[in-house]
Amino acid sequence: MPETWWRGAAIYQVYPRSFADGNGDGVGDLAGLRTRLDHLADLGIDAIWLNPWYPSPMADGGYDVADYRDIEPVFGTLAEAEALIAEAHERGIRIIVDVVPNHTSVASAWFKAALAAGPGSPERARFWFRPGVAGGPPNDWRSIFGGPAWTQVPDGEWYLHLFAPEQPDFNWTHPDVRVDFLDVLRFWFDRGVDGIRIDSAAVLVKDPDAEPDGLDPYTDRDGCHDIYREWRRLTDTYPDRMLVGEVWLPDAERLARYLRPDELHTVFNFPFLGAPWNAPALRAVIDDTFTALGDAPATWVLSNHDVTRPVTRYGRPDTSFDHADRKHGMATDPSLGLRRARAAALLALALPGSVYIYQGEELGLPEVEDLPDEVLQDPIWTRSGHTDRGRDGCRVPLPWSGTSPPFGFGTGTPWLPQPPEWKTLTVEAQSTDPDSMLSLYRTALHLRRTHLGDGTLTWHDTHPDVLSFTRDTGLTCVTNLSPTPVPLPTGTLLLSSSPLPHNLLPPDTTAWLL
Ligand code: GLC
Repeated sequence: MPETWWRGAAIYQVYPRSFADGNGDGVGDLAGLRTRLDHLADLGIDAIWLNPWYPSPMADGGYDVADYRDIEPVFGTLAEAEALIAEAHERGIRIIVDVVPNHTSVASAWFKAALAAGPGSPERARFWFRPGVAGGPPNDWRSIFGGPAWTQVPDGEWYLHLFAPEQPDFNWTHPDVRVDFLDVLRFWFDRGVDGIRIDSAAVLVKDPDAEPDGLDPYTDRDGCHDIYREWRRLTDTYPDRMLVGEVWLPDAERLARYLRPDELHTVFNFPFLGAPWNAPALRAVIDDTFTALGDAPATWVLSNHDVTRPVTRYGRPDTSFDHADRKHGMATDPSLGLRRARAAALLALALPGSVYIYQGEELGLPEVEDLPDEVLQDPIWTRSGHTDRGRDGCRVPLPWSGTSPPFGFGTGTPWLPQPPEWKTLTVEAQSTDPDSMLSLYRTALHLRRTHLGDGTLTWHDTHPDVLSFTRDTGLTCVTNLSPTPVPLPTGTLLLSSSPLPHNLLPPDTTAWLL
């Protein structure tokens, strides 16, 4: 691949806890992942993004990082991580690691030192410690996971955490924080990683003491851009490396500011992920993406470890996604959801830019909506006062083989229970079925290498509920979101997400033609 590999890559997201368990403790790990690298190479992906793999008390699935320069012992060792990077590279697969700069863990050396050093100490200045006001927290900020964004420590001070109390926010005006994160980036680039995914990238800059200025007090503050300019300067001293930001902003122009030539290489396209299964809505998101991005490459993402799995979402009467209401328990039609998820996959894979595939998406796994209360681990469940069941339903360990749990995930009992019905969804079962979701992804990813990825598209004027475009390479992608079959464009059929009776494109189907 050329130096700008990230402009067109197919990037597979590995949630390490749930991918494959190599040591039988019921939790996925690097040993398990290393034994499955050939499977990922066969799938046809170009890179892996790994969710945090650092030492962590796991108060938020590893996004509470205790040490940014080591590996969580449950996942393995730093030596194993280095071996994994080398083994992936041998297969032509690049590695992207997750860096979490907004907050750390209460178990980190800096936070422990801050607690021990007491009010007014230099150690506390790396965080947002404040005295309370009138017996309560310093201000009325709410945690993104629910409840107040402040927690009081025994000496009476309060510290800020935009997420769980176990995730104290760093003070990004402090020079130690800036210097230390540049060192973290160097640490991983020196170990050969090809990219960094930046967690919660738009909320780093805040000042709880500032007078309200009409802007959001902690989202998308201008100071974020200075941080990413510094990160980009460092990244550019290494060949061929990239930064991808997790930036949840509804406004495409604000989002595009993170992609100025001296900032991040890419950001996740969450408006695409949140869009309902509706042609005008999808068309608008796609057009807005290109308008806002200019020369920066687009990314396409249908799911990740924070959102409802597409098969479940697309089978519901409301097919949009919004963190504010995950629609837990809303009725879903699984076969309609699967049919649409297949069509959506071919659409996403055909669009110009890079594409992210969250583990299990290629197996058509549904959201597990009936996990018993007592196994739920997502802090959203407790922080919301048990009103939001959170994200565990999309984090259930993968089914690899066999006809009953743990489905080849490992030899131990998986940390979240797998539904017995997943026996038809294992990698083994789907590998030999040419009509399976896995076969569709494999074929599509291999075709994508030749015909798709970075480039341009030209829209065709067609029915308003049909999305039809031709890529610069000549491939035409057409998706029928109308309730009736429509004629196929001319060309030789390469692939379709569902059968094409009478040579027509049925509802909820995508076809690729050349
Ligand atoms: C990001 C992660 C999410 C995590 C949060 C706090 O949104 O994707 O899983 O809970 O940041 O770190």
